[in-house]
Amino acid sequence: ELTREFIAGLPKAELHVHIEGTLEPELEFTCAQRNQIDIQAKSPADIDHSYGYGLTEFLKAYYRGMKVLRTEQDFYEVTWSFLQKMAQSNVKHVELFFDPQAHTTRGITFETVIEGIHAAIVDAQALGVDTQLVMCFLRELSKQSAWKTLASAKPYHEKGWIIGVGLDSAEHHNPPLKFMTVFDEAQRQGYFLTMHCDPKQVDSVEHVKQALEVIEVDRLDHGMSIVQNADLMEYLISQQIGITACPIAYYYTRKDMEQKAIMELFAKGAVISLNSDDPSYKGGNYINDVYYKFGQKCGWGEDEIVQIAQNSFQSAWISPEAKASYL
Ligand code: ADE
Ligand code: ZN
Repeated sequence: ELTREFIAGLPKAELHVHIEGTLEPELEFTCAQRNQIDIQAKSPADIDHSYGYGLTEFLKAYYRGMKVLRTEQDFYEVTWSFLQKMAQSNVKHVELFFDPQAHTTRGITFETVIEGIHAAIVDAQALGVDTQLVMCFLRELSKQSAWKTLASAKPYHEKGWIIGVGLDSAEHHNPPLKFMTVFDEAQRQGYFLTMHCDPKQVDSVEHVKQALEVIEVDRLDHGMSIVQNADLMEYLISQQIGITACPIAYYYTRKDMEQKAIMELFAKGAVISLNSDDPSYKGGNYINDVYYKFGQKCGWGEDEIVQIAQNSFQSAWISPEAKASYL
């Protein structure tokens, strides 16, 4: 029988979480006051992170919420608040997405964003949480904008502050191939590569195919539609390419946890992990809630949950020595 205590005690890696999606109403209110931004809320209780159905509706709420993040202190505090939660949840390693273009397009400098986030990452090491940053390009923006962002990141990548690049936001009409040359260059510079492929996107299987076969990603985010293509699934499994599932997040945007696909991938030995995505916009469900609720739904016991946690370390971008210490 699976208990919350067992999950809470289990060392884990969180590999799919957007820092902007962890902004809770309390801090959002504090930042709004400090920066004198009118968000039409008299208290944190007036801030509503719910939205209607679908990715587009979620993204509207997500971009609206993050507008209060303006200073290095704001980025520090959102990151510190999240990493404290991870320490309390026995999360040993985090690969944290951030969306620089969601801020630079509002006139915030790349430096402000990364300096604030990075300072909190350094402080959280004392809590026993090791964190690496993965920079996502917003796929509805131009390839040129992605190139510019990659150039801004270069000095920080060279200092070891950013280890990977990803692709997120509005997927319709914005396939992986749109960014092929940018990802090629990122790979040449030594970044790990990953990409979101939403299973509900009409061209989802084609997007997964492009990500795996053309871009040659090191990991795949969501991508649950891969179960519709036996060859691609066989490739993912034989190459032991990690795949990050966020079942509770799926439930919040589309009332479907993708349980069948996740269970199939798990049963076939894919390196599949469970993650939170945007916990503040997904009912406040952080990683331990995701493990518990989805584990319950699948009727899993401790063995399956241990395997999921092992998969999270197995597909993490950490040294073989670090990996061995967790496995
Ligand atoms: N950006 C942040 N969260 C996202 C998600 N779940 N899908 C696409 N883009 C995102
Ligand atoms: Zn995501």
